[in-house]
Amino acid sequence: MKIAFSKAAAPSGVALIVPAFEDGDPTDAHAALNAATSGALAKAIKAAKFSGKKGQALELVGLHGAESTRIVMVGAGKRADLTAIEAENVGGAGIAPILRTQEKAAAFLLGGFSTDKVRAGETAARIAFGARLRSYRFDKYRTKLEKDQKPALEKLSIVTPAADAKTKFADLDKIADGVFLTRDLVSEPPNVLYPASFATRCRALEALGVKVTVLGAKEMQKLGMGMLLGVGQGSARESKLVAMEWMGGKKGEAPVAFVGKGVCFDTGGISLKPGPGMEDMKWDMGGAGAVAGAMAALAGRKAKANVVGVIGLVENMPDGAAQRPSDIVKSMSGQTVEILNTDAEGRLVLGDAIWWTQEKYKPKTVIDLATLTGAIVIALAHEYAGIFSQDDKLVAQIEDAAKSSGDPVWRMPLAKAHYDNIKSDVADMKNIGPREGGSSSAAAFIGRFVKDGQSWAHIDIAGMAWNAKDKPTCPKGGAGYGVRLLDQFIRANYE
Ligand code: BES
Ligand code: MN
Ligand code: ZN
Repeated sequence: MKIAFSKAAAPSGVALIVPAFEDGDPTDAHAALNAATSGALAKAIKAAKFSGKKGQALELVGLHGAESTRIVMVGAGKRADLTAIEAENVGGAGIAPILRTQEKAAAFLLGGFSTDKVRAGETAARIAFGARLRSYRFDKYRTKLEKDQKPALEKLSIVTPAADAKTKFADLDKIADGVFLTRDLVSEPPNVLYPASFATRCRALEALGVKVTVLGAKEMQKLGMGMLLGVGQGSARESKLVAMEWMGGKKGEAPVAFVGKGVCFDTGGISLKPGPGMEDMKWDMGGAGAVAGAMAALAGRKAKANVVGVIGLVENMPDGAAQRPSDIVKSMSGQTVEILNTDAEGRLVLGDAIWWTQEKYKPKTVIDLATLTGAIVIALAHEYAGIFSQDDKLVAQIEDAAKSSGDPVWRMPLAKAHYDNIKSDVADMKNIGPREGGSSSAAAFIGRFVKDGQSWAHIDIAGMAWNAKDKPTCPKGGAGYGVRLLDQFIRANYE
């Protein structure tokens, strides 16, 4: 779908999308269309009880006098409540009905649609961004789609008098590229996306100026990454570690590091998971996917910051060579770990990946993302990712980025008690704590691989990486959670 901005009236014959507030006068665009239909639009809106509430969409066809076959009225809520994120939702909710039709071209009519808080240009750009995010599809394995099931929309015009809409959209367009990369990665089946093929996809970021380094099992063996390698040892697929460097900031300045859990499939290993729902574990690489997508977004928009993304890629399989509950492994940090449950594998991967990241880059701050625990989904459902850190300033920065990016987070506790939970009788620590507070013990485990004085936060995205239902700016499936959050975190604090 091509997106274009224009100041002129919409081309005739295309589907029209008209946002409407719940309060106040109709926008200029809305009033003009009303006049063109000799009031038929107003009558239809009244008859359908369309009030402009958030998320409401009314599809009208064949209105006499309108130059278009189809009009979608989309609710934007109260005028004073319009935020950038709400504008994105208007874009997504407005385009959704069009995406279900065979319309080839559509136009958002935005004349007069803005508030004092969010200026017209920013609003128009956000609407375009939301529409693009909603238009995502993952159809590559559907060879039998009927013609009327295939996406038809080729062109979206954003009709707005605001002169700066197009330039405001340029960066958002790159962020959408990053979100789409993450969605593709989490959507791919594990027979296609495994550590080596994931690394190959990261290599493609070299075209954007990202420096990509891939470590194989032999190199990781030499570095002493016994924890990460232990997880992958039951798999026929070789484990990998990928580092992606975007150095768009000051030369020589230490980077910010993002570290992602990339378990390309999590069977649980010898502590095998139950069969029903196991297919969900194809997206147990959602943290790594978010890191790769964020690097694509930052490089795509040429962010003026030094950022490195490191992902630990493994497959957790049961096998004759797989690690066993009660195995003791040695991490790159030198600390030993008693494996009591081979299904608590993400923390093992992250521990070595984070240690390596600190040794190699001496980063200013480390943020890790992982689909780490089922317990976080029980606590926060699919509404928030859980954030764990003892660095209040970093937490505040991430919370701010969450609010303005639309990737929500909620702070969870991480205290001494959680570190005490993972003491082992036979090794330096064990890889599970009690069932209660499972997400915090998991965070504490990762914390054991963070050096003293290192700023660090852990984000558990187990409830956010995949959408079971459509959302305004995301069709059901891979969510691409984290890309906008990390991008905004860099934009607000390091550029
Ligand atoms: N990948 C899972 C966590 C998960 C669960 C992600 C549901 C997404 C949806 C993780 O590796 C895992 O298996 N965690 C265990 C830990 C337990 C064995 C301590 C869990 O949460 O049950
Ligand atoms: Mn697991
Ligand atoms: Zn897992």
